[in-house]
Amino acid sequence: MLSQKVQDALNEQLNWELYSSYLYAAMSAYFHSVNLKGAANWMRVQAMEELTHAGKFFDFIHERGGRVLLKEVAAPPKEWASPLAAFEEALAHEQKVTARINDLVNLVLEEKDHATHIFLQWFVSEQVEEEASVGDVVGDLKLVGDHPGRLFMIDRELGQRTFHMPSARKE
Ligand code: FEO
Repeated sequence: MLSQKVQDALNEQLNWELYSSYLYAAMSAYFHSVNLKGAANWMRVQAMEELTHAGKFFDFIHERGGRVLLKEVAAPPKEWASPLAAFEEALAHEQKVTARINDLVNLVLEEKDHATHIFLQWFVSEQVEEEASVGDVVGDLKLVGDHPGRLFMIDRELGQRTFHMPSARKE
């Protein structure tokens, strides 16, 4: 059984994961608009991953006999000053998500909710990967400078990313 405090916090995080998906879908649309189809693909895959994160919270709340309460999802920005600016915003966003997951872990420890603590460990590890993968792209884009050829190469690489459905909740 979830405490009201934990249920509210999990619902809040579910909303954040949905917003994350919305934000990356908006970035994908922006990259399409500037003809960077590889980056658009990368963000499209990221948007799908975020939906699976939201799904994990959705399923877990139900598994624990809780109530999912969906709220309004905020509208994301539409435009970015450059590909680097978009990926820098994605990195800043992931850093915020990491801070939120850490706050959630602190809350469930206070509430002595060990099952939710175990559930959240997947997200603690996932956030390390999320920050690293976005950070790598930020690093590559910083090397582009005035060389459009480099941007073309990076975009081709970003186009290789494919979506993999996470196979189990606790992996
Ligand atoms: Fe689900 Fe990228 O945080």
